[in-house]
Amino acid sequence: MENQDLIVNGQNLSGDNGTIEIKSPWDLQTFASVASASKAQVEDAVSNSDEAFHTWRYSSLSERVEIFNNAIKSLREDSDRLAQLLHKEIGKFEDDARSEINRSIDYMELMISALKHWKGTVYYGDLDPKFPRNKKTGIYSRVPLGVVLAISPFNYPINLSITKIAPALLSGNTVVLKPSTQGAYTSYEFYKHFAKAGLPKGVLNIVSGSSKEIGDPLLTHPLVKLIAFTGSTEVGNHIRKVSLGVPLLLELGGKDIGVVTKHADLDLAVKEIVKGAFSYCGQRCTAQKLALVHSSKYEEFTRRVVEEVQKLELNPMIDEPSASFVMELFNDATSKGAEVKVSPNHDSNKLSPAVVSEVKPEMRVFYEEQFGPLMPIGKYETEEELLKLVNGSPYGLQASVYTKDIDQAFRLADKIEVGTVQINAKPDRGPDNFPFGGVKDSGQLMQGTIETLDLMTRGKMVVVNT
Ligand code: G3H
Repeated sequence: MENQDLIVNGQNLSGDNGTIEIKSPWDLQTFASVASASKAQVEDAVSNSDEAFHTWRYSSLSERVEIFNNAIKSLREDSDRLAQLLHKEIGKFEDDARSEINRSIDYMELMISALKHWKGTVYYGDLDPKFPRNKKTGIYSRVPLGVVLAISPFNYPINLSITKIAPALLSGNTVVLKPSTQGAYTSYEFYKHFAKAGLPKGVLNIVSGSSKEIGDPLLTHPLVKLIAFTGSTEVGNHIRKVSLGVPLLLELGGKDIGVVTKHADLDLAVKEIVKGAFSYCGQRCTAQKLALVHSSKYEEFTRRVVEEVQKLELNPMIDEPSASFVMELFNDATSKGAEVKVSPNHDSNKLSPAVVSEVKPEMRVFYEEQFGPLMPIGKYETEEELLKLVNGSPYGLQASVYTKDIDQAFRLADKIEVGTVQINAKPDRGPDNFPFGGVKDSGQLMQGTIETLDLMTRGKMVVVNT
């Protein structure tokens, strides 16, 4: 079994707390192990990143881009192996794992292009009659913050770390990455390419370990200047509480509702909603997690969803507790009157797709995030009723509106309180140049390309007085 040490200051360090075994969701056999860091080790990692910051912040953009281009080249050469590792480690289908690796390398290229359009501003002092022309000129630029703490989730360990790390490093910050344990092994393998590409020691340190042991020491470290986290709402809210006033970029849970209006193209709505609900077994914050269907389309929509869902073959869930949680929501809904349209088979972390209809707000599955292969379907009559149901959700990541009526599309998009409204498509974070983020329990601030460069830097004014 392969073991991976921590990477701090360019050195491999064994974990003070031993190692953590990672089991592949496909067969529940041990896949690899990673070092388990202690509190003292993560504190050292942050201090070391802070030291590296004082040099890295003065590197020129062209040096950073050159390192990124070298990394892109060597990552492309290694992408098949990395995709295989990811496939085994987090239970993603091979094509999906390949797509995550390639998308992440493409994002690095996207960020390099974004730098060409990242600009400061000049302010003219002569707007104030006290100052003649050219007497006082303000140059407003962006400067890095320091150590960025990046915390990535199991479902996109590479893509949801690179979308934090690439903008952080390119804008002159240094990074401590704490990957989710499941996904940590592939993350170490992916980021080794940065050292090989010439990234100086300490600019990117990677520490794996138990969140209980190293979570708060990282989150509350005084040298951490920004926290970028993707994961559960529960952990996100904990970060909101303990972080010491540092800026937070939080991408949390979602309950992305698919609204099927009476003007919907049903072929499209069924296809998108089924794909949106079940890809990667529903373990995506942007999965389509509830369909609300106008009463005129309800019967036909439900019948056609059932036909499609019966054809699906899903990957396993990440672990047994995640599958059991989905069953808990399923049992709660059926005990309160939901109709079982497709019944799930549950065996350990393997869960087949399920569909329940007639779901109502008093059932937990109406507003709780299932993060698994269960599609709840509810009904509505009027737009007023619909908006009350949709905006009553504690989440606010994305929503989809299926309609051929452009007026209705704009009307609903304007009133639904989420980060992104998709018209006639399933929720999706990509394309990766699109700003993405949520409100309420789904997080705060929108990441993107230039948007993230701005979030990970602060404004600085230099006033030239002549
Ligand atoms: O799980 C949360 C991800 O941000 C979803 O990304 O829409 O590309 O699957 P995705």
